[in-house]
Amino acid sequence: MSDSNHHERTPTAILVSGRGTNLRALLDASAAGKLPHAELRLVVSNNPGAPALELARRSGVAAIAIDHRPFAKDRAAHEQSIINELRQRGIRFVVLAGYMRLLTATLIGAFRDAIINIHPSLLPAFPGVDAQAQALRHGARIAGCTVHFVNEDMDAGPIILQRTVPVLPSDSSHSLAERILAEEHNALPQAVDLFTRGRLRVLGKRVYILPGSTSFPELEPDLHAATPVLIATGNLHKAGEIRNILAGVPTPFLTTDLFPETTEPEENAPDYLGNARIKAHHWLKLSGLWTLADDSGLEVDALGGRPGVLSSRYGPTAASRNAKLLDELRDVPPEKRTARFTATVVLCGPDGREFHATGTCEGRIAFESRGSNGFGYDPIFIPDGFGGKHLAELDEKVKDSISHRCRALEKIRHHFAELA
Ligand code: GRF
Repeated sequence: MSDSNHHERTPTAILVSGRGTNLRALLDASAAGKLPHAELRLVVSNNPGAPALELARRSGVAAIAIDHRPFAKDRAAHEQSIINELRQRGIRFVVLAGYMRLLTATLIGAFRDAIINIHPSLLPAFPGVDAQAQALRHGARIAGCTVHFVNEDMDAGPIILQRTVPVLPSDSSHSLAERILAEEHNALPQAVDLFTRGRLRVLGKRVYILPGSTSFPELEPDLHAATPVLIATGNLHKAGEIRNILAGVPTPFLTTDLFPETTEPEENAPDYLGNARIKAHHWLKLSGLWTLADDSGLEVDALGGRPGVLSSRYGPTAASRNAKLLDELRDVPPEKRTARFTATVVLCGPDGREFHATGTCEGRIAFESRGSNGFGYDPIFIPDGFGGKHLAELDEKVKDSISHRCRALEKIRHHFAELA
Protein backbone atom coordinates (compact mmCIF):
# COMPACT_ATOMS: atom_id res chain seq x y z
CA MET A 1 0.00 0.00 0.00
CA SER A 2 1.49 3.37 -0.85
CA ASP A 3 0.86 6.78 0.62
CA SER A 4 -1.06 7.78 -2.47
CA ASN A 5 -3.95 5.55 -1.35
CA HIS A 6 -4.25 7.49 1.87
CA HIS A 7 -5.11 11.03 1.00
CA GLU A 8 -8.33 10.78 2.94
CA ARG A 9 -8.37 10.71 6.73
CA THR A 10 -9.06 7.42 8.47
CA PRO A 11 -11.99 7.73 10.91
CA THR A 12 -10.45 6.71 14.22
CA ALA A 13 -11.88 5.81 17.62
CA ILE A 14 -9.90 5.84 20.86
CA LEU A 15 -10.93 3.53 23.68
CA VAL A 16 -10.01 4.66 27.20
CA SER A 17 -10.73 3.78 30.80
CA GLY A 18 -8.95 6.36 32.89
CA ARG A 19 -7.13 9.68 32.99
CA GLY A 20 -6.22 9.76 29.29
CA THR A 21 -2.72 11.20 29.03
CA ASN A 22 -2.16 9.11 25.89
CA LEU A 23 -5.44 10.42 24.52
CA ARG A 24 -4.18 13.91 25.21
CA ALA A 25 -0.96 13.17 23.32
CA LEU A 26 -3.08 12.13 20.33
CA LEU A 27 -5.34 15.18 20.55
CA ASP A 28 -2.30 17.46 20.81
CA ALA A 29 -0.59 15.79 17.86
CA SER A 30 -3.76 16.11 15.83
CA ALA A 31 -4.18 19.78 16.76
CA ALA A 32 -0.57 20.40 15.76
CA GLY A 33 -1.28 18.94 12.31
CA LYS A 34 0.84 15.87 12.95
CA LEU A 35 -1.87 13.32 12.21
CA PRO A 36 -2.93 14.53 8.76
CA HIS A 37 -4.35 11.14 7.76
CA ALA A 38 -6.22 10.39 10.99
CA GLU A 39 -9.54 11.87 11.96
CA LEU A 40 -10.02 11.46 15.71
CA ARG A 41 -13.76 11.03 15.49
CA LEU A 42 -14.85 9.29 18.68
CA VAL A 43 -13.70 8.44 22.19
CA VAL A 44 -15.36 5.52 23.98
CA SER A 45 -14.94 4.55 27.61
CA ASN A 46 -16.24 1.58 29.55
CA ASN A 47 -15.98 3.81 32.60
CA PRO A 48 -18.53 6.66 32.69
CA GLY A 49 -16.35 8.52 35.21
CA ALA A 50 -13.18 8.47 33.11
CA PRO A 51 -11.58 11.93 33.03
CA ALA A 52 -10.53 11.08 29.46
CA LEU A 53 -14.14 11.57 28.30
CA GLU A 54 -14.18 15.16 29.48
CA LEU A 55 -10.79 15.75 27.92
CA ALA A 56 -12.10 14.60 24.55
CA ARG A 57 -15.21 16.76 24.72
CA ARG A 58 -13.16 19.82 25.60
CA SER A 59 -11.21 19.22 22.40
CA GLY A 60 -14.41 18.96 20.40
CA VAL A 61 -14.28 15.18 19.93
CA ALA A 62 -17.45 13.14 20.51
CA ALA A 63 -17.10 11.03 23.65
CA ILE A 64 -19.43 8.35 24.93
CA ALA A 65 -19.47 5.92 27.82
CA ILE A 66 -20.63 2.36 27.31
CA ASP A 67 -20.56 1.05 30.84
CA HIS A 68 -19.57 -2.59 31.03
CA ARG A 69 -21.25 -3.24 34.37
CA PRO A 70 -24.84 -3.73 33.13
CA PHE A 71 -23.50 -6.46 30.82
CA ALA A 72 -22.06 -8.36 33.82
CA LYS A 73 -20.05 -11.27 32.44
CA ASP A 74 -21.33 -10.97 28.89
CA ARG A 75 -18.21 -9.37 27.42
CA ALA A 76 -19.25 -10.11 23.85
CA ALA A 77 -22.53 -8.22 24.30
CA HIS A 78 -20.68 -5.23 25.75
CA GLU A 79 -18.31 -5.27 22.80
CA GLN A 80 -21.19 -5.64 20.40
CA SER A 81 -22.67 -2.37 21.62
CA ILE A 82 -19.28 -0.73 21.17
CA ILE A 83 -19.07 -2.18 17.65
CA ASN A 84 -22.52 -0.81 16.84
CA GLU A 85 -21.40 2.69 17.82
CA LEU A 86 -18.15 2.39 15.91
CA ARG A 87 -19.92 1.12 12.80
CA GLN A 88 -22.61 3.78 12.94
CA ARG A 89 -19.93 6.44 12.98
CA GLY A 90 -17.92 4.88 10.18
CA ILE A 91 -14.89 4.09 12.34
CA ARG A 92 -12.15 2.13 10.54
CA PHE A 93 -9.31 2.24 13.07
CA VAL A 94 -9.38 1.67 16.84
CA VAL A 95 -6.71 2.80 19.28
CA LEU A 96 -6.64 1.43 22.81
CA ALA A 97 -5.12 4.11 25.03
CA GLY A 98 -5.35 2.85 28.58
CA TYR A 99 -8.43 0.73 27.91
CA MET A 100 -8.42 -1.60 30.88
CA ARG A 101 -10.45 -4.48 29.51
CA LEU A 102 -9.26 -7.50 27.59
CA LEU A 103 -10.79 -7.63 24.15
CA THR A 104 -12.55 -10.75 22.97
CA ALA A 105 -12.78 -12.21 19.49
CA THR A 106 -15.99 -10.20 18.94
CA LEU A 107 -14.31 -6.80 18.77
CA ILE A 108 -11.01 -8.10 17.44
CA GLY A 109 -12.75 -9.92 14.59
CA ALA A 110 -14.81 -6.84 13.71
CA PHE A 111 -11.66 -4.73 13.25
CA ARG A 112 -9.08 -7.31 12.22
CA ASP A 113 -5.58 -5.78 11.93
CA ALA A 114 -7.08 -2.37 12.67
CA ILE A 115 -6.83 -2.23 16.48
CA ILE A 116 -3.65 -1.10 18.20
CA ASN A 117 -2.75 -0.90 21.87
CA ILE A 118 -0.04 0.74 23.92
CA HIS A 119 1.52 -1.21 26.74
CA PRO A 120 4.07 0.07 29.30
CA SER A 121 6.71 -2.63 28.83
CA LEU A 122 9.01 -3.99 26.17
CA LEU A 123 6.77 -6.83 25.07
CA PRO A 124 6.82 -9.79 25.10
CA ALA A 125 8.29 -9.12 28.56
CA PHE A 126 5.84 -8.17 31.30
CA PRO A 127 2.40 -8.44 29.71
CA GLY A 128 -0.73 -7.81 31.75
CA VAL A 129 -1.18 -5.52 34.74
CA ASP A 130 1.52 -3.67 36.68
CA ALA A 131 4.08 -4.01 33.91
CA GLN A 132 6.38 -1.44 35.53
CA ALA A 133 6.33 -3.23 38.89
CA GLN A 134 7.05 -6.50 37.09
CA ALA A 135 10.08 -4.90 35.43
CA LEU A 136 11.40 -3.72 38.80
CA ARG A 137 10.79 -7.10 40.42
CA HIS A 138 12.81 -8.76 37.69
CA GLY A 139 15.66 -6.29 37.99
CA ALA A 140 15.26 -5.22 34.35
CA ARG A 141 17.89 -2.64 33.37
CA ILE A 142 15.90 -1.34 30.42
CA ALA A 143 12.18 -0.72 30.29
CA GLY A 144 9.93 1.00 27.82
CA CYS A 145 6.69 0.83 25.93
CA THR A 146 5.31 -1.11 23.00
CA VAL A 147 2.65 -0.27 20.48
CA HIS A 148 1.24 -3.44 18.96
CA PHE A 149 -1.64 -4.77 16.96
CA VAL A 150 -4.26 -6.46 19.07
CA ASN A 151 -5.05 -10.08 18.45
CA GLU A 152 -6.63 -12.82 20.53
CA ASP A 153 -3.49 -13.33 22.66
CA MET A 154 -3.13 -10.81 25.47
CA ASP A 155 -0.42 -8.19 24.80
CA ALA A 156 1.08 -10.52 22.20
CA GLY A 157 0.00 -9.13 18.82
CA PRO A 158 2.52 -8.04 16.16
CA ILE A 159 4.80 -5.28 17.46
CA ILE A 160 4.68 -1.95 15.61
CA LEU A 161 7.23 0.03 17.57
CA GLN A 162 8.96 0.22 20.91
CA ARG A 163 10.74 2.93 22.84
CA THR A 164 13.14 2.33 25.68
CA VAL A 165 14.04 4.07 28.93
CA PRO A 166 16.66 3.15 31.54
CA VAL A 167 15.61 1.65 34.86
CA LEU A 168 17.40 3.60 37.60
CA PRO A 169 18.51 2.04 40.90
CA SER A 170 16.32 4.50 42.79
CA ASP A 171 13.19 3.83 40.74
CA SER A 172 9.82 3.09 42.25
CA SER A 173 7.16 1.74 39.96
CA HIS A 174 5.69 5.25 40.00
CA SER A 175 8.88 6.98 38.85
CA LEU A 176 9.51 4.31 36.25
CA ALA A 177 5.92 4.61 35.01
CA GLU A 178 6.36 8.37 34.60
CA ARG A 179 9.53 7.92 32.56
CA ILE A 180 7.87 5.31 30.37
CA LEU A 181 4.77 7.45 29.97
CA ALA A 182 6.80 10.27 28.42
CA GLU A 183 7.90 7.82 25.72
CA GLU A 184 4.36 6.49 25.29
CA HIS A 185 3.34 9.99 24.34
CA ASN A 186 5.84 9.88 21.47
CA ALA A 187 5.16 6.33 20.42
CA LEU A 188 1.37 6.31 20.21
CA PRO A 189 0.94 9.34 17.92
CA GLN A 190 3.77 8.07 15.76
CA ALA A 191 2.10 4.65 15.45
CA VAL A 192 -1.24 6.27 14.57
CA ASP A 193 0.53 8.33 11.93
CA LEU A 194 2.20 5.21 10.48
CA PHE A 195 -1.03 3.25 10.39
CA THR A 196 -3.11 5.99 8.81
CA ARG A 197 -0.45 6.69 6.18
CA GLY A 198 -0.69 3.02 5.16
CA ARG A 199 2.91 2.34 6.12
CA LEU A 200 2.28 -0.77 8.24
CA ARG A 201 2.10 -4.22 6.76
CA VAL A 202 1.36 -7.21 9.00
CA LEU A 203 2.82 -10.47 7.70
CA GLY A 204 2.70 -13.48 9.96
CA LYS A 205 3.75 -12.38 13.44
CA ARG A 206 5.67 -9.35 12.22
CA VAL A 207 4.91 -5.82 11.26
CA TYR A 208 6.91 -4.32 8.43
CA ILE A 209 7.20 -0.56 8.34
CA LEU A 210 7.28 0.61 4.75
CA PRO A 211 9.27 3.68 3.74
CA GLY A 212 7.13 6.76 3.22
CA SER A 213 6.26 10.20 4.46
CA THR A 214 6.00 11.01 8.15
CA SER A 215 5.08 13.71 10.61
CA PHE A 216 7.83 12.53 12.95
CA PRO A 217 11.07 12.81 10.96
CA GLU A 218 13.14 12.93 14.15
CA LEU A 219 11.88 9.48 15.18
CA GLU A 220 12.10 7.95 11.72
CA PRO A 221 15.68 6.55 11.90
CA ASP A 222 14.69 4.28 14.82
CA LEU A 223 12.12 2.55 12.64
CA HIS A 224 14.45 1.05 10.05
CA ALA A 225 11.69 1.33 7.51
CA ALA A 226 12.25 -0.99 4.56
CA THR A 227 10.30 -2.53 1.74
CA PRO A 228 10.05 -6.30 2.15
CA VAL A 229 10.58 -8.46 -0.91
CA LEU A 230 9.03 -11.88 -1.35
CA ILE A 231 11.29 -14.53 -2.87
CA ALA A 232 8.94 -16.44 -5.13
CA THR A 233 10.20 -19.96 -4.77
CA GLY A 234 9.08 -22.99 -2.81
CA ASN A 235 12.72 -24.13 -2.82
CA LEU A 236 14.07 -22.95 0.54
CA HIS A 237 17.61 -23.79 -0.55
CA LYS A 238 17.31 -21.43 -3.49
CA ALA A 239 15.75 -18.78 -1.27
CA GLY A 240 18.74 -19.11 1.10
CA GLU A 241 21.15 -18.77 -1.79
CA ILE A 242 19.41 -15.61 -2.98
CA ARG A 243 19.49 -14.13 0.53
CA ASN A 244 23.22 -14.84 0.78
CA ILE A 245 23.96 -13.31 -2.60
CA LEU A 246 21.99 -10.20 -1.75
CA ALA A 247 23.42 -9.82 1.77
CA GLY A 248 23.88 -6.13 2.39
CA VAL A 249 20.87 -4.82 0.50
CA PRO A 250 18.48 -2.89 2.76
CA THR A 251 15.66 -5.39 2.33
CA PRO A 252 13.87 -7.87 4.58
CA PHE A 253 13.40 -10.98 2.44
CA LEU A 254 10.32 -13.12 2.93
CA THR A 255 9.54 -16.59 1.66
CA THR A 256 6.36 -18.04 0.26
CA ASP A 257 5.73 -20.25 3.31
CA LEU A 258 4.10 -17.12 4.78
CA PHE A 259 1.21 -17.95 2.46
CA PRO A 260 0.68 -21.67 3.08
CA GLU A 261 -2.61 -22.08 1.33
CA THR A 262 -1.57 -21.23 -2.17
CA THR A 263 -0.63 -23.17 -5.23
CA GLU A 264 2.30 -22.65 -7.56
CA PRO A 265 1.52 -21.30 -11.03
CA GLU A 266 2.14 -23.37 -14.13
CA GLU A 267 5.46 -22.44 -15.74
CA ASN A 268 4.57 -22.86 -19.38
CA ALA A 269 6.43 -20.02 -21.05
CA PRO A 270 8.92 -20.83 -23.82
CA ASP A 271 11.83 -19.04 -22.12
CA TYR A 272 13.37 -18.21 -18.75
CA LEU A 273 12.13 -14.62 -18.72
CA GLY A 274 8.57 -15.75 -19.41
CA ASN A 275 8.61 -18.30 -16.62
CA ALA A 276 10.24 -15.95 -14.13
CA ARG A 277 7.56 -13.37 -14.95
CA ILE A 278 4.77 -15.92 -14.47
CA LYS A 279 6.09 -16.73 -10.99
CA ALA A 280 6.81 -13.13 -10.03
CA HIS A 281 3.40 -11.83 -11.06
CA HIS A 282 1.57 -14.77 -9.50
CA TRP A 283 3.09 -14.02 -6.10
CA LEU A 284 2.87 -10.26 -6.49
CA LYS A 285 -0.84 -10.53 -7.15
CA LEU A 286 -1.33 -12.81 -4.20
CA SER A 287 0.76 -10.92 -1.67
CA GLY A 288 0.76 -7.32 -2.88
CA LEU A 289 4.48 -7.36 -2.11
CA TRP A 290 7.51 -6.63 -4.23
CA THR A 291 8.42 -10.04 -5.57
CA LEU A 292 11.65 -11.57 -6.82
CA ALA A 293 11.49 -14.67 -9.00
CA ASP A 294 13.96 -16.50 -11.16
CA ASP A 295 13.97 -19.17 -13.75
CA SER A 296 17.08 -21.01 -14.66
CA GLY A 297 18.29 -23.92 -16.66
CA LEU A 298 21.24 -25.90 -17.84
CA GLU A 299 22.12 -25.67 -21.53
CA VAL A 300 24.22 -28.50 -22.87
CA ASP A 301 25.79 -27.72 -26.26
CA ALA A 302 26.00 -31.37 -27.34
CA LEU A 303 22.22 -31.63 -26.80
CA GLY A 304 21.42 -28.51 -28.79
CA GLY A 305 20.85 -26.49 -25.61
CA ARG A 306 18.68 -29.04 -23.82
CA PRO A 307 17.34 -29.34 -21.17
CA GLY A 308 17.30 -25.51 -21.09
CA VAL A 309 13.98 -24.07 -20.05
CA LEU A 310 12.75 -27.60 -19.30
CA SER A 311 15.58 -28.27 -16.82
CA SER A 312 13.43 -28.57 -13.72
CA ARG A 313 10.97 -30.83 -15.56
CA TYR A 314 13.55 -33.15 -17.14
CA GLY A 315 12.72 -35.91 -14.67
CA PRO A 316 10.81 -36.37 -11.42
CA THR A 317 13.75 -35.83 -9.05
CA ALA A 318 17.10 -34.05 -9.15
CA ALA A 319 18.92 -37.40 -8.99
CA SER A 320 16.91 -38.83 -11.88
CA ARG A 321 17.48 -35.72 -14.00
CA ASN A 322 21.21 -35.92 -13.39
CA ALA A 323 21.27 -39.63 -14.22
CA LYS A 324 19.32 -39.03 -17.42
CA LEU A 325 21.71 -36.31 -18.57
CA LEU A 326 24.82 -38.36 -17.79
CA ASP A 327 23.32 -41.24 -19.72
CA GLU A 328 22.56 -39.07 -22.75
CA LEU A 329 26.13 -37.81 -22.74
CA ARG A 330 27.86 -41.10 -21.98
CA ASP A 331 29.64 -41.24 -25.39
CA VAL A 332 30.40 -37.51 -25.64
CA PRO A 333 34.13 -36.73 -25.14
CA PRO A 334 35.27 -34.15 -22.55
CA GLU A 335 35.93 -31.34 -25.03
CA LYS A 336 32.39 -31.59 -26.41
CA ARG A 337 30.67 -31.54 -23.01
CA THR A 338 30.53 -27.75 -22.76
CA ALA A 339 27.47 -26.33 -21.02
CA ARG A 340 26.24 -23.35 -19.07
CA PHE A 341 23.80 -22.48 -16.37
CA THR A 342 21.60 -19.53 -17.25
CA ALA A 343 19.34 -17.63 -14.87
CA THR A 344 16.92 -14.82 -15.47
CA VAL A 345 15.69 -12.89 -12.47
CA VAL A 346 12.62 -10.68 -12.34
CA LEU A 347 11.81 -8.15 -9.62
CA CYS A 348 8.36 -6.62 -9.89
CA GLY A 349 6.39 -4.35 -7.62
CA PRO A 350 2.88 -3.27 -6.76
CA ASP A 351 3.57 0.10 -8.42
CA GLY A 352 3.98 -1.63 -11.81
CA ARG A 353 7.76 -1.33 -12.01
CA GLU A 354 9.69 -4.36 -13.16
CA PHE A 355 13.41 -5.10 -13.49
CA HIS A 356 15.05 -8.15 -14.98
CA ALA A 357 18.50 -9.47 -15.82
CA THR A 358 20.21 -12.63 -17.00
CA GLY A 359 23.47 -14.23 -15.86
CA THR A 360 25.40 -17.30 -16.97
CA CYS A 361 28.01 -19.63 -15.55
CA GLU A 362 30.12 -21.50 -18.14
CA GLY A 363 31.52 -24.98 -17.65
CA ARG A 364 31.06 -28.60 -18.75
CA ILE A 365 29.18 -31.70 -17.76
CA ALA A 366 31.08 -34.24 -15.66
CA PHE A 367 31.04 -38.02 -16.09
CA GLU A 368 29.63 -38.61 -12.65
CA SER A 369 27.88 -36.86 -9.76
CA ARG A 370 30.01 -35.34 -7.01
CA GLY A 371 29.57 -33.09 -4.00
CA SER A 372 26.68 -32.27 -1.72
CA ASN A 373 26.56 -28.48 -1.64
CA GLY A 374 24.04 -26.72 -3.82
CA PHE A 375 21.10 -28.42 -5.48
CA GLY A 376 19.67 -29.46 -8.86
CA TYR A 377 22.34 -30.12 -11.48
CA ASP A 378 25.20 -28.75 -9.32
CA PRO A 379 26.73 -32.23 -8.65
CA ILE A 380 27.32 -32.93 -12.39
CA PHE A 381 28.47 -29.46 -13.46
CA ILE A 382 32.16 -28.46 -13.58
CA PRO A 383 32.49 -24.68 -13.71
CA ASP A 384 35.41 -23.19 -15.64
CA GLY A 385 38.36 -22.07 -13.54
CA PHE A 386 38.06 -24.24 -10.42
CA GLY A 387 40.51 -27.06 -11.19
CA GLY A 388 37.83 -29.51 -12.26
CA LYS A 389 35.83 -29.36 -9.07
CA HIS A 390 32.11 -29.94 -9.42
CA LEU A 391 29.83 -27.05 -8.51
CA ALA A 392 28.37 -29.04 -5.61
CA GLU A 393 31.90 -29.53 -4.23
CA LEU A 394 32.62 -25.82 -3.97
CA ASP A 395 32.15 -23.93 -0.78
CA GLU A 396 28.66 -22.35 -0.81
CA LYS A 397 30.18 -18.87 -0.67
CA VAL A 398 32.39 -19.52 -3.69
CA LYS A 399 29.49 -21.10 -5.55
CA ASP A 400 27.23 -18.18 -4.77
CA SER A 401 29.84 -15.74 -6.06
CA ILE A 402 30.17 -17.38 -9.51
CA SER A 403 26.70 -18.75 -10.03
CA HIS A 404 24.44 -17.73 -12.90
CA ARG A 405 21.90 -16.56 -10.32
CA CYS A 406 24.50 -14.41 -8.61
CA ARG A 407 25.55 -12.82 -11.88
CA ALA A 408 21.94 -12.02 -12.73
CA LEU A 409 21.16 -10.70 -9.25
CA GLU A 410 24.26 -8.51 -9.19
CA LYS A 411 22.88 -6.68 -12.21
CA ILE A 412 19.70 -5.69 -10.38
CA ARG A 413 21.21 -5.29 -6.89
CA HIS A 414 21.17 -1.48 -7.08
CA HIS A 415 17.38 -1.46 -7.54
CA PHE A 416 16.73 -2.84 -4.03
CA ALA A 417 17.58 0.52 -2.52
CA GLU A 418 14.97 2.20 -4.75
CA LEU A 419 11.90 0.18 -3.82
CA ALA A 420 9.08 2.02 -2.13
C1 GRF B 1 -0.56 3.66 30.01
O1 GRF B 1 0.49 3.33 30.85
C2 GRF B 1 -0.71 2.67 28.92
O2 GRF B 1 0.52 2.14 28.52
C3 GRF B 1 -1.54 1.60 29.56
O3 GRF B 1 -2.45 2.31 30.33
C4 GRF B 1 -1.91 3.56 30.72
C5 GRF B 1 -2.86 4.61 30.27
O4 GRF B 1 -2.51 5.89 30.73
N1 GRF B 1 -2.14 0.74 28.58
P1 GRF B 1 -3.31 7.16 30.26
O5 GRF B 1 -4.78 6.96 30.61
O6 GRF B 1 -3.14 7.29 28.78
O7 GRF B 1 -2.71 8.31 30.98
